[in-house]
Amino acid sequence: MEALTKDKTTTQQDLFPINGTDYIEFYVGNAKQAAHFYQTAFGFNIVAYRGPETGSRDTVSYVLQQGKIRFVLTNALSPDHDISRHVLVHGDGVKVLALWVDDAEYAFNTAVANGAKAAQKLQVHKDEHGQVRTASIHTYGETIHTFVERKDYHGAFFPGFEARKSQMEIQPIGLKYIDHCVGNVELGMMDKWVEFYQKVMGFNLLVTFDDKDISTKYTALMSKVVSNGNGYIKFPINEPADGVKKSQIEEYLDFYRSAGVQHIAIATDDIIHTVDELRRRGIDFLRVPDTYYETVMDRVGEIKEDLKELQRLNILIDRDEEGYLLQIFTKPVQDRPTVFYEIIQREGARSFGKGNFKALFEAIEREQELRGTL
Ligand code: FE2
Repeated sequence: MEALTKDKTTTQQDLFPINGTDYIEFYVGNAKQAAHFYQTAFGFNIVAYRGPETGSRDTVSYVLQQGKIRFVLTNALSPDHDISRHVLVHGDGVKVLALWVDDAEYAFNTAVANGAKAAQKLQVHKDEHGQVRTASIHTYGETIHTFVERKDYHGAFFPGFEARKSQMEIQPIGLKYIDHCVGNVELGMMDKWVEFYQKVMGFNLLVTFDDKDISTKYTALMSKVVSNGNGYIKFPINEPADGVKKSQIEEYLDFYRSAGVQHIAIATDDIIHTVDELRRRGIDFLRVPDTYYETVMDRVGEIKEDLKELQRLNILIDRDEEGYLLQIFTKPVQDRPTVFYEIIQREGARSFGKGNFKALFEAIEREQELRGTL
């Protein structure tokens, strides 16, 4: 099957090579309707399906793909299934951040030997299209990492799934690959999880933001970013910091009922087109005030995009030593104020938009105020 990341490279620091994100699996309350949302609003194509018709008695999964991004949407068919309990507790959310590795058994054994808690021992999945080997470890909250080894697998996704196509014409919106996945963890737990990724996977600490970087008049948070050697996997980890009012991280933890994935950042080469389409299809974004655009050019200097277009779509701009980036954040994509998306276009910059944090967090606080959770 098609490779899901850029060219393979790795570095010495990695305890085992990770080639990229294999898939992200969401546990949801209604996979059929969620699949419709990701097709119509985000422009994903259905590529595979597993359910009662394919021999899965108690769960249903739709696999959707755009560019190198693969989402799996899974629901259970009975109330006593663990997926149903997961959805009851957390609402719709990310269960699996699957990592594409060369050797699932070696990755799992290495991770466990370095302190990871096993979630699922090595499993070999086979069908007429070949085999896929997987094994999983726990990370923050109820989230797991599944190591996926797919040498010579030629099926649609995974043994047990059948190839399936969207039943309507899909208009992709230029989503290319997962840029980073952010986790929210409990107060005081950020360093523990940073250490986890360092010890268990050999990740590097890339950058640290403290409450001086990320605070508004009312609330604050702290964040550290860990990354694997080739930089294809970047996991920022946030924890709440003391503020006068409840931070967005605490609000997330209250509603998700545990640590979990806060946002998934997806890369595009043409953010104006991507965001124009998302808005036209009804996706809501956080809004910064128009005054943001009065001073932003002083801060970021020359860019090739038309500032008027960026302002019309409320896209944010930031610059670091290596270049600039354009980014925007959706509002939460389910009823609970939990998971949301970032759309990002990198023009050389490898950072995360620090210059926009204040304007963004004020925008989030305005939303919290409306929900009565600030
Ligand atoms: Fe982000």
